[in-house]
Amino acid sequence: MASRMLHTAGITGVGMSFPERRLTNADLEKMVDTDDAWIVERTGIRERRLVEPGTGASHHGALAARQALEHAGVTAAEVDLIIVPTVTPDMVFPATACIIQHEIGAVNAWGFDLEGACSGFIFALQNARAQVEAGHAKRVLVIGTEIMSSITDYGDRNSCILFGDGAGAVLVERIEPERVGIIDAINRVDGVGIRFLHQKAGGSVMPASAETVANNLHTVYQEGRDVYKFAVKGMAGVTAEIVERNGMTGADVDLFVPHQANIRIIEAAQQRLGLPDSKVMITIDRFGNTTSASIPSALRVACDEGRLREGHNVVLCAFGAGFTWGACLMRWAAR
Ligand code: COA
Repeated sequence: MASRMLHTAGITGVGMSFPERRLTNADLEKMVDTDDAWIVERTGIRERRLVEPGTGASHHGALAARQALEHAGVTAAEVDLIIVPTVTPDMVFPATACIIQHEIGAVNAWGFDLEGACSGFIFALQNARAQVEAGHAKRVLVIGTEIMSSITDYGDRNSCILFGDGAGAVLVERIEPERVGIIDAINRVDGVGIRFLHQKAGGSVMPASAETVANNLHTVYQEGRDVYKFAVKGMAGVTAEIVERNGMTGADVDLFVPHQANIRIIEAAQQRLGLPDSKVMITIDRFGNTTSASIPSALRVACDEGRLREGHNVVLCAFGAGFTWGACLMRWAAR
């Protein structure tokens, strides 16, 4: 749909932060009935990072945000808005955005958290873009940060192998129109997915009680096989759609940065576009699925590895609980 935009928005800085502690597949072999070969073959994951208990999502979120600001050469006081996509906020309220605002000294910013599960970063990015394009904000921090270990059942081999903790952040800024920046986005939800992937207790339907704790209802519930089928269809479909509707093909894409949930889901989207491995960011081997942190942290890894340069055509895509999914096409604007 055509929209009236006054300004151009682009990503000008990226940051990430991960805890030091590693949980390897060998560690998991001692905890549940699984093995390294199965995990690597079925998911592509070799290890994930875990915080020490008591560390909130704001901790690594603030560190990632600081790095993104430094990359962009912008001070915290120049930020207008902070959006924090997360399913593992420090507290149910207030928003983790408030905690990070205070921590980094973004004294002129307002902010809020956004719940889009593994698509949270894509959804937040579209919000940041809209604020900048409409002229309501010049600089927006989008900080995907998760402590997935706080909602993971380490007795359930179906899900505990998947998740990790960490954070990634980007600064979305008003840029000169000739630098192009964010070109297009597609965002979708379909509540048909609710029953396959959710956390049963801790919300208003089933508040925390001795019983919910005893029955282990405060962790991720997932019917993995069903989620997998929807995820392959959703990620591959939306990625192809955004490229094609902008008159491009896989050959025009310089870097594809998908949400890191499962290597096989990523490969399905990669094949749909006919992309060589050199154009696909993979970080799932070292970080696992970090939900809303996976795309922004993968962008930072891409910068550090010299795989992202100003002017590159970049495609992001994600799929997550809800179901939620989406994609974003941009001309890379960070220097
Ligand atoms: N180690 C060894 N075996 C395991 C295992 C583990 N950690 N976890 C499951 N298995 C077993 C299952 O019990 C099953 O055994 P059975 O056939 O005797 O019942 C067998 O392996 C196959 O299970 P299945 O669920 O079909 O495996 P899969 O190939 O679908 O892989 C997931 C499981 C979870 C890795 C995969 O479904 C997945 O990635 N789903 C999407 C997850 C996701 O992306 N979630 C976040 C949303 S973005």
